[in-house]
Amino acid sequence: MSWGQIPEWTYEAAKALMASLNTVDPLTYQHCLRVGEMSRKLARDAGLNEFEQKIAEFSGMFHDIGKIGISQEIIAKPGKLDPKELDIMRNHPILSEDIIKPLAVHDFFARLLPNIRGHHERMDGEGYPDRLMGEDVPLIARVILVVDTYDAMSQTRAYRKGLPDEVVYAELKRCAGTQFDAQLVRIFLQAHATWKNQEDEAETKAKIIKVA
Ligand SMILES: [Fe+2]
Repeated sequence: MSWGQIPEWTYEAAKALMASLNTVDPLTYQHCLRVGEMSRKLARDAGLNEFEQKIAEFSGMFHDIGKIGISQEIIAKPGKLDPKELDIMRNHPILSEDIIKPLAVHDFFARLLPNIRGHHERMDGEGYPDRLMGEDVPLIARVILVVDTYDAMSQTRAYRKGLPDEVVYAELKRCAGTQFDAQLVRIFLQAHATWKNQEDEAETKAKIIKVA
């Protein structure tokens, strides 16, 4: 991937989109902000260049924005989803892609789309929506999946207490190579503990997107 331009209106566009997500689903909004930030850090620690790190950041930020179109009854349902609900839920990467698509007139946003669409694809081909396999899953989609899973498991929800880091780390390790990119899991496990007190320039800038 070559270096490219990031449009100067990127943060304003992100702020508008994220503010609308926050009005209907504050938990998903907070989740998306954390996943955006962690995606950038994992991309950085995996050796991707600054432009690719930005692509990781914004792909991660928008990965679940499509949940704006899914009823809270399904999003916040504590038990198992029935097959119809599961279908609706599994459509969210496509909804996210559809929301960002109009911005893909600019190359930077066009580059986000495969990562957003692919963030639930798995290395073993058992993911969705396209059942991509191995290297066919875009690298940044693989980055998002690792940090998305970390965040989802470690956060406390109304119906479930967040799991401690050790438990989440063990789960990432257990599914490395099948669900997750094994190399990215290795890098995440090495680097994650060092992220907590890191605040860099990108993070300061990302704060303008926080509306709550
Ligand atoms: Fe998702």
